Amino acid sequence: MSTLTIFSSVPARTAAEAAPAPTSRPIPAVLGADLEVPVKGGRLVGYANLDYAASAPCLEPVSAAVTAALPAYSSVHRGAGYASQLTTARYEQARHTVRAFVGARPDDAVIFTRNTTDATNLLAGCLPEGTTTVVFDTEHHASLLPWQKSVRLAPPAFPGEAVRAADAALAGIDGPKLLVVTAASNVTGELWPIAALAHVAHRHGARILVDAAQLVPHRRLNLTALDLDYVAFSGHKLYAPFGAGVLVGRRDWLAEGEPYLKGGGAVRSVGDDIEWHEDPEPRHEAGTPNVLGAIALAAACDALTATGWTELVREEERLIARLRSGLASIEGVRELSLWGDDHPRVGIVSFTVDGYSAREVAEVLSSEYGIGVRDGKFCAHPFVRHLLGETDGGCEDGTASAVRASIGIGSTQEHVDRLVEAVRDLVNR
Ligand SMILES: Cc1ncc(COP(=O)(O)O)c(C=O)c1O
Repeated sequence: MSTLTIFSSVPARTAAEAAPAPTSRPIPAVLGADLEVPVKGGRLVGYANLDYAASAPCLEPVSAAVTAALPAYSSVHRGAGYASQLTTARYEQARHTVRAFVGARPDDAVIFTRNTTDATNLLAGCLPEGTTTVVFDTEHHASLLPWQKSVRLAPPAFPGEAVRAADAALAGIDGPKLLVVTAASNVTGELWPIAALAHVAHRHGARILVDAAQLVPHRRLNLTALDLDYVAFSGHKLYAPFGAGVLVGRRDWLAEGEPYLKGGGAVRSVGDDIEWHEDPEPRHEAGTPNVLGAIALAAACDALTATGWTELVREEERLIARLRSGLASIEGVRELSLWGDDHPRVGIVSFTVDGYSAREVAEVLSSEYGIGVRDGKFCAHPFVRHLLGETDGGCEDGTASAVRASIGIGSTQEHVDRLVEAVRDLVNR
């Protein structure tokens, strides 16, 4: 079989093909749905995984895609052998799939990274000299910290205030500017007005990076329609826990920025002078890339697109409404929210329980009820402190922190009800 045959067997897809499949498939299963874990007394119970916002379980089609790719697994981009060419074709097809999944423009770069943190840091290294970043204190540290020069904005009291504050901050900055904002908060799940923020950014000649780590597992994102410049997200939160993430967006800054890693693959030639690739993908993906991670990420994109968002969103909203109203019915339990009960959100709920530290709650949920949640400040220290009204407190010390329950594909009503009843039991002790 010729090289041509291999490449033509996996044709590139365009952003227009990102539309949901006409007939959607059933919601795929996740691995580990039948996992049993020990609780106090030695009993085994089915694990209630309510920690999807940290890392989601692997989708079955993702595992199948990785298993299918393994027998021919080989080096990419450099080998003449058949397996090498097939693996290269699969890796490059993964790029097209991701591009289509986020509705990117045909000429946008799609760079595979390790995760969202890696993607934001990559972009930070490519900003034109003197760029000022505008970022809200509500961000995850991955989007808050990588910037050399930034203006930090206080958590806005309502969505329109976010747009107004960004507008005012960007108006006062000369030179290149970048607005960084999350699409869905990893603390409250609340959705941010990214279309309006993109509009404001562009009005001031700025660009916008959207941290979509918590959005893409729950909602469809269309970079072109929203007029975003960059998006970043992680495979392990998108049911593809094989160590890949991605940065998608405009090529020019990425083509001129310092290569993220310096080494093989990023250079065209090395003599007395070094000629670096101008194409952002090879320029920033030196060394052997995480091929299986990219294949897994693309398989997750395909599986979600094939399922269609309507059913996924409907089921998530049903479960999250049940969880929130259950928790709200317990005295002493307070849900964290920036913009109020009715603001749209993805499947994430953070809360505190009077009389207990978040760590105590999380430990009881795990050891007595077989429930996995996250506790702490969720790597969003300024935001959680703001929501709790605290001035200090470490990330892991169990005080000045909250419990976070998060759901996704594979979450069940029984998991949600078990959590609510466990918290109720705890409060009544
Ligand atoms: C909104 C948001 N951004 C960025 C990150 C960082 O993701 P990663 O740890 O995969 O780099 C997270 C992880 O929790 C997140 O929730």
